[in-house]
Amino acid sequence: MFTPRFLISLLLPTLLLTLAAGCRTLPQPQTDGGMPLMLALKERQSIREYDTAKPLSPETLSNLLWAADGINRPETGKRTAPSAMNSQEVEIYVVLEQGAYRFEPKNHQLDPIAVGDLRAQTGGEEFVKTAPVNLVYVADLDKLTKAPENEKEFYGGVDTGFISQNVYLFCASEGLGTVVRAGFDRAALTQSLKLRPTQKIILVQTVGYPKQKSQEK
Ligand SMILES: Cc1cc2nc3c(=O)[nH]c(=O)nc-3n(C[C@H](O)[C@H](O)[C@H](O)COP(=O)(O)O)c2cc1C
Repeated sequence: MFTPRFLISLLLPTLLLTLAAGCRTLPQPQTDGGMPLMLALKERQSIREYDTAKPLSPETLSNLLWAADGINRPETGKRTAPSAMNSQEVEIYVVLEQGAYRFEPKNHQLDPIAVGDLRAQTGGEEFVKTAPVNLVYVADLDKLTKAPENEKEFYGGVDTGFISQNVYLFCASEGLGTVVRAGFDRAALTQSLKLRPTQKIILVQTVGYPKQKSQEK
């Protein structure tokens, strides 16, 4: 039997975090339009210089996350990216200046995870600290229930690749810059994002508007 005191001690940290970071509902994603696919493929590239004064609008962030791994068939809950045995094990953590959130595709919302600026933990390169968005791809190996134990990390890596390419193509289509990255502070980020040992960070991907040539010194 749970005492009221026990329940409060259990729920209080989550409640405080929710109040501080704010559960962010995303605008309804716009799932039509965009650049023709062949043109987006022509434009796809890695960008490492960003316009730090230009954040993504809530609409653009919403569309980005839907393109990355949102639900494109509500009748089955299936996603824009394939996953091994439809395990849907890759979670997207969204690191913004004000805090870190986990993208929750079912309600298309951001659940608060941590308050404060964790961008520096998402990579060693200078641009990472000031770019508006860093997506952290986390494979929850516990969700790969049908995969043999020794293949789970492999599938987590492969499935992350599809999501990352969706992000690359969305960014190409929207005039955004992006770069996927394997270099990040794994220990610090695992702790800050409150990950379990079976939640493995696979890659990080920076997103922002590219620095205009005229801004370069
Ligand atoms: C698995 C993987 C890891 C990567 N890690 C980094 C990284 O840590 N830092 C970085 O600046 N770019 C990283 N990249 C981006 C590659 O350097 C880039 O894709 C490559 O140079 C080709 O350039 P392009 O994407 O413009 O075609 C990574 C790419 C992949 C696929």
